[in-house]
Amino acid sequence: MAHELVIVLDFGGQYNQLIARRVRECNVYCEVKPYTTPLEELKALHPIGIIFTGGPGSVYEDDSPHYDPAIFQLGVPVLGICYGCQLIAHTLGGLVTPAQDDSAREYGKTETFYDISCKLFKGMPESGISWMSHGDYMAKVPEGFQLVAHSNNCPNVAIADEERGFYGVQFHPEVTHTQWGKEMLRNFLYEVCHCSGDWKMDSFIESTVAELRERIGDKKVILGLSGGVDSSVAAGLLSRAVGKQLTCVFVDHGLMRKDEGDFVEQTFTTMFDMNFIRVNCGEHFLSKLKGVTDPEQKRKIIGVEFYKVFWDEIRNQAEDGFFAQGTIYPDRIESGKGKTNGKASTSVIKTHHNMTAMPEDIQFLGTIEPLADLFKDEVRAVGEKLGIPHELVWRQPFPGPGLGVRIIGEITAEKIKVLQEADWVLRDEMAKNGYEKNLSQFFCVLPGVNSVGVMGDHRTYDNLVVIRAVTTDDFMTADWARIPYDILADVSNRITNEVDHVNRVVYDITSKPPATVEWE
Ligand code: XMP
Repeated sequence: MAHELVIVLDFGGQYNQLIARRVRECNVYCEVKPYTTPLEELKALHPIGIIFTGGPGSVYEDDSPHYDPAIFQLGVPVLGICYGCQLIAHTLGGLVTPAQDDSAREYGKTETFYDISCKLFKGMPESGISWMSHGDYMAKVPEGFQLVAHSNNCPNVAIADEERGFYGVQFHPEVTHTQWGKEMLRNFLYEVCHCSGDWKMDSFIESTVAELRERIGDKKVILGLSGGVDSSVAAGLLSRAVGKQLTCVFVDHGLMRKDEGDFVEQTFTTMFDMNFIRVNCGEHFLSKLKGVTDPEQKRKIIGVEFYKVFWDEIRNQAEDGFFAQGTIYPDRIESGKGKTNGKASTSVIKTHHNMTAMPEDIQFLGTIEPLADLFKDEVRAVGEKLGIPHELVWRQPFPGPGLGVRIIGEITAEKIKVLQEADWVLRDEMAKNGYEKNLSQFFCVLPGVNSVGVMGDHRTYDNLVVIRAVTTDDFMTADWARIPYDILADVSNRITNEVDHVNRVVYDITSKPPATVEWE
């Protein structure tokens, strides 16, 4: 089914997918296209609006990205953001120069005054905070355009040619720091482009399933299922699209939480149409990890072995099939693939092993990433619609190396058992108290420390268990969660009573930084 389409033309800015996501939040379907896309191709898509993104260049430089000026002859409204705004000015006869002094160069939160008779600012207050990030200045506004917003430092913050439906803003309406940003985008979509809002998550599922069917045809698809939100939702979508042509491979390294492997298996074998392969290799991992205590070495071994087992399992199935992954948009950003101009950080804090290159001897027909443009909460919304159990859709993040990074020192079967039981009690108590929703992540850690205790009349010398719980928006920084004492008391009581070989429970009250969320 065809939907009204808005095109986000990508000039290399860092927030481009965020713009797309905001447009989707307004129930309008949108696609991000590189600025190198020929005009004829754009035209053939019949967009009802076009958004030029920001970008790192300066429009007056010859090697900066430009676009065919004929785009302004299509009769389609255009909104330019930051670089995109300057590009409109530059292309249509205005003048953009480097800001001569600090007065016109703006970064960060800036009080901005809007002309609310302009359609873009309809229904908004006359002023608000906007997020600026530009060093260039529109010295001359192109003919036919009005100035429709200013700040204390800069007279030329937004321009509009209402007759032709061209708008430009120097700030970023897509970021949450811009107070009325969402309203501005909504105004562009509904007041200027006259969108009807015909797109919802159901439509995403419908169109993605149709695309998957078309691309996969009668071939096979292999998906690595971890039991995390992303791979589970990708599995749900693929199952809906091609049923038994899909094979999900679930490598159980024995470092999952209590009963988690069984739950994943049960969910996907009973609720979804697919082939499901569970590779139980806990013993193998334990033997590889025997005697290893260094955190980075443990991570490496788990990562390397995980993929070795996985590749071995799928090697024979690659021919004549596709390889599917639950990659989501933030993964692409973190691995540098979502950025046009970004550079990956070179300092390794901890090695994450989510994105690992496929061995050269394995040749699939292609890679399928049905969630590649979605943000986490959008993925969850799709998961809910597909009927994936709440427990999986709202599962808190769980590291690839699993409990391996929560057992300090050597990993043994006994330690895994103690940690699984303690962690299960913590999760059970949080669920009973309905406290999970206040936490971004919570779990137990086994630091490999024994301490003296007393049980009955006996001296004990047994394990210490740590409770770790954090709140955070992005996991780059995190605060330790202020779980009420009463709940902590119950958790401690139950762990020491119900879990063998634990005689002491402590609570980690360190934020990130200086600590990290995980202990290894
Ligand atoms: P840290 O410990 O780095 O954790 O503050 C931040 C977030 O990342 C998760 N994490 C991992 N996730 N593979 C993953 O998929 C890993 O190797 C890994 N290490 C940490 C951690 O659980 C937290 O959510």
